[in-house]
Amino acid sequence: MKIAITGANSSVGKNLLIQLATIPDLEIIAGVRSKSAFESLPKDASITPAVISYADVDSLASVLAGADCIIHLAGILIETKHSNYASANVAATETVVEAAKRNKAKHVIFISVVGASPDSNNAYFRSKGTAEKLVSESGIPSSIIRTPILLGRGSAGTNSLKYATAKDKTNVLGGGNYTMRPLDVDDLNNALTTLATKPAIDTTTYELVGPETIAYRDLIKLAAEVQNKTIEVRSAPIWLAKIGSAISSIIKGGGMTPTVIDVITMNEKVEVNADAAIGIKLTPLRDTLSKILTEK
Ligand SMILES: NC(=O)c1ccc[n+]([C@@H]2O[C@H](COP(=O)([O-])OP(=O)(O)OC[C@H]3O[C@@H](n4cnc5c(N)ncnc54)[C@H](OP(=O)(O)O)[C@@H]3O)[C@@H](O)[C@H]2O)c1
Repeated sequence: MKIAITGANSSVGKNLLIQLATIPDLEIIAGVRSKSAFESLPKDASITPAVISYADVDSLASVLAGADCIIHLAGILIETKHSNYASANVAATETVVEAAKRNKAKHVIFISVVGASPDSNNAYFRSKGTAEKLVSESGIPSSIIRTPILLGRGSAGTNSLKYATAKDKTNVLGGGNYTMRPLDVDDLNNALTTLATKPAIDTTTYELVGPETIAYRDLIKLAAEVQNKTIEVRSAPIWLAKIGSAISSIIKGGGMTPTVIDVITMNEKVEVNADAAIGIKLTPLRDTLSKILTEK
């Protein structure tokens, strides 16, 4: 069986490659945008790194040719001078879908976000919702997985928790009173592996979140606790952060913006968690935090 991954050098991608490499008789194409990214990828005989361009459907189709499943991971929350929602979240997905159509691909898996909607007022949620639509209307059997904040080795969520618990006091937007459903990246990758290795018949959208709902301030306290630390969580005004980020993002051409602040301070709500439908077991939050914050 052959699985092709885009954005293979993303934090999710690197963890996924390690997991996929343990499955016998699997051929894995690890698509990245430049040869310099090869170095960051896990090494295994089953993994073939490949440079892919989202500006060229023909060359992308030839790299993805013969894949039984394409896992499209490339995508961003934080825009930069070189990458924005239109290019990273929408145009890249459009090219992947076109290439998959040319190859008559059997299955595309797309990682989206809880809250995605093509009609959202928030530019990030709108871009992911637009990308979902491109995938679901492609005619290719697809699995769309909406995820919450992801906690795994090297993920942005993990880095934020490490930063927040580095000292004995931390300032958090709005006092961290918004709630989240953090998902262990290993659980996400179990879901991706389960879905990728069985035939897809039609298109399904899953909302896959972690087992517990927790306020961000309590998540920080729990993160400190598993490291045998105590922490005082203080409050930074959201309105002030929005003004500051609006100005700094114009000067820097990216980074934190009011859009990103709205995303990270949203309450993550899900009606039905997809763990049972996909057939995976979720890791208790405390175990996830111990794994990502205390391992050497
Ligand atoms: N991390 C989370 O908490 C979270 C939550 C919900 C959904 N997701 C989604 O999960 C997926 C993986 O997330 P992650 O946090 O692991 O990603 P990540 O580590 O931030 O990596 C981003 C990936 O997107 C690629 N990329 C950036 N700009 C691009 C562009 N203009 N065109 C094509 N590719 C581009 C990057 O390639 P280069 O290295 O070449 O720039 C890299 O492979 C993304 O789709 C993300 O939106 C993540």
